[in-house]
Amino acid sequence: MAQEFDIVVIGAGPAGYIAAIRAAQLGFKTACVEKWLTPQSEPALGGTCLNVGCIPSKALLASSEEFENIAHHADSHGISVKGASFDLAKMIARKDGIVSKMTKGIEFLFRKNKITWLKGHGRFTGEADGQVLLEVQGSSGTEAVVAKNVIIATGSKARHLPGIAVDNKIVCDNEGALAFDSVPKRLGVIGAGVIGLELGSVWRRLGSDVTVLEATPQFLAACDEAVGKEAFKLFTAQGLKIEMGVAIGEVKTSAKGVSIAYKSSDGKAQTLDCDRLIVSVGRVPNTENLNLEAVGLAADDRGFVPVDDHCRSNKPNIFAIGDVVRGPMLAHKGEDEGVMVAEILAGQKPHIDYNCIPWVIYTMPEIAWVGKTEQQLKVEGRAYKAGQFPFAANGRALGMDAAEGFVKVLADATTDEVLGVHIVAASASDLISEVALAMEFKASAEDIARVCHPHPSMSEVIREAALAVDKRALNM
Ligand code: FAD
Ligand code: NAI
Repeated sequence: MAQEFDIVVIGAGPAGYIAAIRAAQLGFKTACVEKWLTPQSEPALGGTCLNVGCIPSKALLASSEEFENIAHHADSHGISVKGASFDLAKMIARKDGIVSKMTKGIEFLFRKNKITWLKGHGRFTGEADGQVLLEVQGSSGTEAVVAKNVIIATGSKARHLPGIAVDNKIVCDNEGALAFDSVPKRLGVIGAGVIGLELGSVWRRLGSDVTVLEATPQFLAACDEAVGKEAFKLFTAQGLKIEMGVAIGEVKTSAKGVSIAYKSSDGKAQTLDCDRLIVSVGRVPNTENLNLEAVGLAADDRGFVPVDDHCRSNKPNIFAIGDVVRGPMLAHKGEDEGVMVAEILAGQKPHIDYNCIPWVIYTMPEIAWVGKTEQQLKVEGRAYKAGQFPFAANGRALGMDAAEGFVKVLADATTDEVLGVHIVAASASDLISEVALAMEFKASAEDIARVCHPHPSMSEVIREAALAVDKRALNM
């Protein structure tokens, strides 16, 4: 007999597990199919984000930053530390411990909310009487499942390049790059995107000589240009070697390491020899072997499940959320889509303003933004005003030795509505929430400027940048 559910979610990453929790809160009989196995072959919830993405990368970023501060920056506070060293195995074990705590936490939340975890690979088998038929292929066999509604949340995996075999020992994607057993002396990175910069920073801080090779001529092309320029200056000053506009050629792996042939932007043939290589050139959606055809669906030519603004597919009772659909591949975007879909199924009328989804790159300083860049506004032909304020003029930032970067506020020239905010700062990931909230409420730059901000605090720079939109910053 097939098990029957109101809602079956396929995938327990941040999109899927949050959808399942919200569905259960709303009274639906809910199951979540998840096939993830840890390196010890134990089933685990949490998807990419918890196991090999957001959480482990942030743990290693924090550890490596701690080391860098103690070893190299304590001096500016008058503190001398001699012979600072680290134990990489312990650092990796700490990261693994955090991952395990978090994934076990979701198991607890599933039990608490009475969500059935169907362990194994889920795929569609057909439709009958308006219900969706699925099967779950687990370690102990194949189980049939019937669902009134299905939410596809199968996420994404690292894109690999043709001719570059990833073994996750010498040539690594995010999985191997989060678990090196030693610090490579020379580390190559293909792709100066989010993963390349975050993980490149981790290993640079721990002592690797890191070279990042990027195909596009413009650094961080998705960011506001001023942010990209500032970040390039700061990261290269920290010691990251970044080469823009390259064309990657043959990559040879040997017992000694990796040799990457490439053309530099001036067309010259070059070779980068390194001990390990990280390939971080984007991610692709997981739709293979889902058997979408059995329910009359098909992935688009890039592998995404086509959906509308409410994440509904061509089938009224099948939705898709998170990395497997259009939009930014960000955990919080998937989570919000999960909540939205569960609430739609409960007859509510939620919606997501995709323009208000914040982006963060967890380098040091961090980079965060929400809304439009100045270049996007120019292309749209929208008249805007810009205000910018540096952290170097902020007392808290100076006290914290975190005076690099700035806040830039873009507002409509006529209405003063905030259209975009761009931050380069030590705590940009936390600062950005204030402006995301402001933009959700369609605040004007003056609204932000009139709100009393605590002194001294990094957030004062947001207020000053909002004042600068009207050319009346106070501390400049
Ligand atoms: P996933 O997390 O990929 O989860 C999908 C799940 O579905 C997986 O567990 C998979 O096993 C399962 N699955 C797939 N197919 C099936 C099937 N047929 N049957 C059963 N189960 C299946 N985002 C941020 O917002 N902030 C960050 O700081 C951040 N850092 C990142 C760092 C790295 C190194 C990486 C790689 C990514 C990072 N991301 C970050 C992106 C973030 O991890 C993803 O956007 C997020 O995990 C997407 O969530 P998801 O639920 O859609 O998919
Ligand atoms: P990315 O899209 O951020 O960056 C990939 C980079 O590789 C781009 O700059 C691209 O131009 C470059 N590239 C592509 N092909 C290339 C080639 N052949 N040679 C050289 N360069 C090439 O992708 P990344 O870093 O792999 O991360 C994947 C996704 O994971 C991100 O887009 C993001 O959605 C998510 N993520 C989010 C994080 C966060 O929110 N802090 C952290 C890490 C990942």
